[in-house]
Amino acid sequence: MVRIVNYTKSHMYTILSIETSCDETSVSLIQATQKSDTEIDIQKISHLVHSQADLHAEYGGVFPSLAKREHAHNIVPLMQELIIESQHKHSGVFVSQSNTEVPNEVRQNIAHILEREPELYDNIVRHLCGYKGNIDAIAVTQGPGLEPALWIGINFARSLGVLWDVPVVPINHMEGHVISALFNEHTSTLSPPPFPTLALLISGGHTEIIKMTDPNSYTLIGKTRDDAIGEAYDKVARLLGLPYPGGPEIARLAEHGRTKNITSTEPLPRPMIHSDDIDFSFSGLKTAVLYRVKDTTLTEEDKIALAREFEDAVTDVLSHKLQKAFTEHPAQMCLVGGGVAANTYIRERIVDTLTNIDSSIDVKFPNKELATDNAFMIALALAFRHFFSTLQEESPSDNTFRASGNLSISSSL
Ligand code: KG4
Ligand code: ZN
Repeated sequence: MVRIVNYTKSHMYTILSIETSCDETSVSLIQATQKSDTEIDIQKISHLVHSQADLHAEYGGVFPSLAKREHAHNIVPLMQELIIESQHKHSGVFVSQSNTEVPNEVRQNIAHILEREPELYDNIVRHLCGYKGNIDAIAVTQGPGLEPALWIGINFARSLGVLWDVPVVPINHMEGHVISALFNEHTSTLSPPPFPTLALLISGGHTEIIKMTDPNSYTLIGKTRDDAIGEAYDKVARLLGLPYPGGPEIARLAEHGRTKNITSTEPLPRPMIHSDDIDFSFSGLKTAVLYRVKDTTLTEEDKIALAREFEDAVTDVLSHKLQKAFTEHPAQMCLVGGGVAANTYIRERIVDTLTNIDSSIDVKFPNKELATDNAFMIALALAFRHFFSTLQEESPSDNTFRASGNLSISSSL
C-alpha cells in the first residue's frame, strides 16, 4: 500500500531530510512557505553534515561496509544535535515528551524495521523517543549510491516516520543535486527554472546531462559509459600520490600550474570529445595518466603539469559535450551540481562555453558547500515537488521501500 502525502498542498511545509548515500551522514530541517506561484521561502532551521572522508582516505576511496557502520553510528548523535539546534531557535518543531509516552506497538514496529541494526534501535529508544516531532514529511535519499549506506538512512527515516507518525518520501539523490542549483542563498528562496532547462551533474558517482521540460519530469540525455568525472579525479590523484578525496587536491595543483605557467609537454587524450552523442568516458584518461606515471619518479613540477593537463582534458570534454547538448536541446538555463561543481576552473569554463553559445543562457551553481553531498538538497527536492509539481508525494509501503543503488533520475518520478 502506498500512502499519499498531503494531496492538498499546504502553505507551510516542515521537512526533515536524511542523506546517507555515500560517505557523508547528513540531516536537515527546513520550513518551506509558499510566497507566490513561482517562489517559496526556505527557512533553514538546521543543517548538519558529518564527513567520513578521513576514515576512507586510507583505502583511497569509499569502503561500503565501513560507510554503513559509520552512518549507523553517527546518525542518532547528528539527529540529537539537529533537535537541540531546533529547540534553541524556538522553532516549535520538537517538543520533549516522556519516553514512556511511546506506545509499545510503536517500539515494536521500530524494532521490526531495525531488526538488523540493534545498536541503531537502542540509540533511537534511548535518545530520540523523548521527543515529539511536528513534521509534515521526512525526505530520504533512496538512491543512487552505495546500497548498504542507503539502507541505514532509509530504515532510520522509516523508524522516525513510525515514531512521529510522519510520511516518509523517497528522493533521488541526483534530483537533490539538480534542485540545489536553484536555491538562492541570498534571498533564501527556491523558484522553478524556465523550461526547458538542462542540468549537468558532475560528481564522484555520476556524470550526467538531464533535461527538464516541466517540474514533473527529468530525462537523462547523456551520461558516462564508465568512470564518473569525480572518480577520475580521485583515481588520478591516487596515481599522483595525493590523498582522498583527490578532486580538490588535483584542482589545487592545476591552479598552481596555471599561475606559474607550468605545462605538460605531452597532451593527454580527450576521450569521446568528437563522438556523435552527449555521452562521456573517463576511464581511458585515467589509464593514460597511469602509463605516464608508471616506472617514473615524478618531481613536484611533473605532478603539477600532469594535474593541469588532466583538468584541461576533462574540462575540454565537458565544454564540447555541453555545447552539443545545448545545440541539440536548446534550453534557457543550465543547472550545474555535484561535488565536482565545487571546482572554480570548471565553473569558469562552463560559463565561457555557454556564453559563447548564447549569452542569454542563465547558468546556476549551488554554493560550494551545497555542491557536495548534503541533506539540505534532499529537503529542497521535496519542497520543490510539493509546491511546484502536480505530482502526489508518495510514501511507499514497507516491502516496496528499498534502497536502489542504480536508481535512474529518468524513472524517479
Ligand atoms: O557529489 P559528491 O559529494 O558525492 C557523490 O555523489 O559522488 O562528489 C564527490 C566528488 C569526489 O570525487 C571529489 O573528488 C569531487 O567530488 N570534488 C572535486 C572538487 N571537490 C570535490 N573535484 C574537482 N574539483 C573540486 N574542487
Ligand atoms: Zn552526490
